[in-house]
Amino acid sequence: MYKPATFEIDIADMLPPLATASAAALCVFADEPRVASACADDDLTRAGNELLRGGEFDGKEDTALLCHVADAGGGARRLLLVGLGARADFTPLVLRRAAGAALREARAAHVRQLNFVLPATDSAATLARAVAEGALHGAYENDFYQAQDDDAPAFQRLTIIAPAPHEALRAAVARGRVVAESANWARSLADEPGASLPPREFARRAAEMAGEFGLRVESLDAGEIQTRGMGGLWGVGRGSDEPPALIVVRYEPEGATVDDELWAFVGKGITFDTGGISLKPGERMEEMKADMAGGAAVLGALRALAQLKPPRRVVGVVPAAENMPSGKATKPGDVVRTLAGYTIEVVDTDAEGRLVLVDGIAYARQLGAKRIVDLATLTGSIIVALGDHRAGLFSNDDAWAAQVLTASARAGEPAWRMPVSDDYKKKIESPVADFKNYGGRPDATAAALLLSKFAADTPWAHLDIAATAWHDDPQPDAPRGATGTGVRTLVELVCGEDSH
Ligand code: BES
Ligand code: MN
Ligand code: ZN
Repeated sequence: MYKPATFEIDIADMLPPLATASAAALCVFADEPRVASACADDDLTRAGNELLRGGEFDGKEDTALLCHVADAGGGARRLLLVGLGARADFTPLVLRRAAGAALREARAAHVRQLNFVLPATDSAATLARAVAEGALHGAYENDFYQAQDDDAPAFQRLTIIAPAPHEALRAAVARGRVVAESANWARSLADEPGASLPPREFARRAAEMAGEFGLRVESLDAGEIQTRGMGGLWGVGRGSDEPPALIVVRYEPEGATVDDELWAFVGKGITFDTGGISLKPGERMEEMKADMAGGAAVLGALRALAQLKPPRRVVGVVPAAENMPSGKATKPGDVVRTLAGYTIEVVDTDAEGRLVLVDGIAYARQLGAKRIVDLATLTGSIIVALGDHRAGLFSNDDAWAAQVLTASARAGEPAWRMPVSDDYKKKIESPVADFKNYGGRPDATAAALLLSKFAADTPWAHLDIAATAWHDDPQPDAPRGATGTGVRTLVELVCGEDSH
């Protein structure tokens, strides 16, 4: 099981003397001839500037160069040049990613202490948070099923060098740590194989987390799912030997009353998606262990909110099921009756996400949610439409959509608005039931339209994260695998400016 990579983060005015296993990281803009981090160490600065002059490093984004600088005593100190790209394009998000890449580069070279000198651009607190958050994100590994060399010294300490009041910086770093650790926790669940995270275990992990951070748990088991009439969730889960679960976790701020507005975050929690009777082809099916990434993100966001304590009531709802073929499984042509009362013809059992989400959304409304965001690795077609760099955002409310879009952009998890329109209704009209779950490709717009019928008049936004929840290839700041996307967007949505 996942063990969180954790290390000390402290703050200093000046670069300390560099010990053997430590390095100094200096930032470089691609369009400037000198290092941008003022470290008050003439030898290191000179060495950095010489490397730039010689063309050995060009400061492009996503690049870093580790080198040795001779010191007066005959030894060598380690210098890590960190590329930030063009100065005009710089944002704290660029620094966040650069810090993640820097941490991975340094750690690969057995550096155990990294002294990161902030560039003098935005407010030092904003930048310190970005470095802390990026480094913790970069430290994540999904190698928890590989033999570990327990004697290998772990990365120990990140020191952020900034000549600014330490108190404000420490608070910013603490917030960055909460968000990064919560996103990494969500990633670790999505990277977990299907066999080790069936719905009940997913629910148990949620409850364990809730206990640790003081959240309320109101999850439902398979029996309750059936008796309450959640035929969508039950229909998807019934083919598996592993029973489904409806995971419900609440964050209640101090002094909140039932009259305070409740927001619901609903996450798709398919712990493994074989496609069911409409079985998927084998190629890359292993990635379907991450088909609960939306659910993990919802729970990760609650984990962070419990620590950041914003004044907003939030409930997380994660319909969790394993989509399996068997003699008990839902068949194409079967009709399920959902919690909202509508029936759905299951044309394709691989379009299962929307079946569990409609019950999650209906349940959120029953609980009194006044605003809803759902996150789901819902469709292959959103991958075709937007690729890895944007989630698809669908909404029935322009103001709410704008709020979610702003939060996602600020969080560095950008989304692109897509239509919710009855123009697509033919794809969800059934000759035998109120709706059908599949009407042919492309399908992201049809899936969203179906969800919108269940959100009804509640302001709702749906993020299709099928592409952004998973990296097919290693990144400068992350291994191949789950990304934890969504946690930061939801936290930003609730905390806004306060989260900085
Ligand atoms: N979980 C998948 C969507 C998905 C695909 C997520 C690839 C991440 C990567 C979803 O349940 C699904 O199977 N969608 C199908 C539905 C269709 C075949 C009925 C799709 O979009 O191809
Ligand atoms: Mn599917
Ligand atoms: Zn799925």
